[in-house]
Amino acid sequence: MTTTPIIKVREMAYPRLQVPDLDRMEAYLMDFGMVRAERRDRVLYMRGAGTAPYVHVIHEGEAAFPGFAFEAGSHEDLERLAATPGFTPVEALDAPGGGVRTTTVDPIGLTVEVVHGIAPVAERGSLAPRSLNMGEAFQRIGTPQRIRGGPSRIKRFGHLALNVPDPMAALSWYQARFGLIPSDRVNLAPGMPVALFTRCDRGAEPADHHSILFASAMASGGVSGLNHLSWEVCDIDDIHAGREHLAAKGRTHEWGVGRHLLGSQIFDYWRDPWGHIHEHWTDGDQFDAGVPAGDHSIDVGTVSQWGPNMPSTFGRTLPPTAG
Ligand SMILES: [Fe+2]
Repeated sequence: MTTTPIIKVREMAYPRLQVPDLDRMEAYLMDFGMVRAERRDRVLYMRGAGTAPYVHVIHEGEAAFPGFAFEAGSHEDLERLAATPGFTPVEALDAPGGGVRTTTVDPIGLTVEVVHGIAPVAERGSLAPRSLNMGEAFQRIGTPQRIRGGPSRIKRFGHLALNVPDPMAALSWYQARFGLIPSDRVNLAPGMPVALFTRCDRGAEPADHHSILFASAMASGGVSGLNHLSWEVCDIDDIHAGREHLAAKGRTHEWGVGRHLLGSQIFDYWRDPWGHIHEHWTDGDQFDAGVPAGDHSIDVGTVSQWGPNMPSTFGRTLPPTAG
């Protein structure tokens, strides 16, 4: 059932992970395309190439996924949440760029922060997609295409996927508080989605096809929690050149390159040394709030339009590797 949400969040801000070795995580994330924003006593802030001062927060401790942050459109939205049972009072965010937040705990025990007012930073290099000569639209005349090898250019943190006992129940909790709306449902039977793609309601302004994918924990052995984390890169060369860089560094590949059906992203998935799945993607769908939710029956065609088959390990955090 849909209720009037307390607020409508604008987008994702960052995820948090906890791992025992911050140096090792920093090295992996640099191969993935991030750079250190700041390192404090037991916390590491990593940024991409975009204007967010950080796009990933990593705490030192036993490997875990403690939660993530949404970005709200105004300070008043935070006050509105803070006046709701289950949310903390608005407090200063002690992190690069400052800002404020309120916090709650979701039905599977994740800490959900809602932040506002984090000061942006200058872009690190160019985020412009490379000019392409394709079809009838030749954009690059008189200039050769030259790709400098190295890590992907990461634009921003885009979405995450959660394994939950009941995707419909999870969406109704997130819809009531944060205004998430369904984009696509993959149904085991009518009204029984095993995958529920949800986006931010920004009215007439387009939003990513999904900010959270709620996946049935049936596919992850009944274990709730993180399925994967996902960052947008600047273009298709960032997918492939970034992939070669990660491979040359001996990192653990999970799945890709392919193009999803629901959301249409070109994707590539990697695992950090503690088995968490990190995705690069580009060329995803943008929907305003008027695009109705799609319903699909479950079959392999709902996963990708091209690319390798999804590995059976996908969507689960695996035990640490030696990498
Ligand atoms: Fe994804």
